[in-house]
Amino acid sequence: MNKQLRKAVIAGNWKMNKTPAEAKELIEGIKPLVKNADCDVVVCVPYVDLSVVLEATKGTNIGVGAENCHWENSGAFTGEISAPMLTSMGVQYVIIGHSERRTYFGETDQTVNKRIRAALNAGLNVILCVGESLEQREQGITAELVAMQTKIALCGVTKEELKKMIIAYEPIWAIGTGKTATAQQANEVCAVIRSVIADLYGKDAADAFTIQYGGSMNAKNAAELLAQPDVDGGLIGGASLKPADFAEIVKAASK
Ligand code: 13P
Repeated sequence: MNKQLRKAVIAGNWKMNKTPAEAKELIEGIKPLVKNADCDVVVCVPYVDLSVVLEATKGTNIGVGAENCHWENSGAFTGEISAPMLTSMGVQYVIIGHSERRTYFGETDQTVNKRIRAALNAGLNVILCVGESLEQREQGITAELVAMQTKIALCGVTKEELKKMIIAYEPIWAIGTGKTATAQQANEVCAVIRSVIADLYGKDAADAFTIQYGGSMNAKNAAELLAQPDVDGGLIGGASLKPADFAEIVKAASK
């Protein structure tokens, strides 16, 4: 596996944080600190912040994403946002299947698959999240579970479409807990995901595929995690709300 073939991608997931005014302040803080990044930089923000962040990042190296989208293009789905609505604004990325959506909002592997297909049809880049709970890790089923989540999510996704996808391995027990997976644990599961991609799409597709780690990645631990052979980037929650910390992670990925 040749890591040089893959582009490192550092993406912030702002989750349910920041009003539009606060979002403007945050993105203006991030912009100058990441302008020389030698990796892809993305911020995924609440729907109501998209306009202001898109405007503020025009002409910069920062890509903008949403945190979810519905699987239908339009219709009677009160409170939902569709993929074409996002692309019509200039949004380029969307996170699908975050564990917080799976845990609190009834997201299943099947609905994850439907959302991914809709997002790809609309031309969005997808950041798919997979990962196990602490209980599942202790049961020793992490590899099987993550492989299954990945396979179901990718059902019907073509090799060409796969080029617009990233997978983020996010162990649920490491999210927002300050408890990071060890570099070895992160790499092990990212390698499982890469072998699933190789089985489904071939070695060339797997070698070129970007896999992120997410879960309490911060300015201090990023370099070690990102140095792992199968870890190609990070999906960052808490630390993405602090410009200096986020920039430090971007720097670690740019080496
Ligand atoms: P934290 O970095 O806050 O642990 O969140 C990770 C995450 O869920 C990113 O999607």
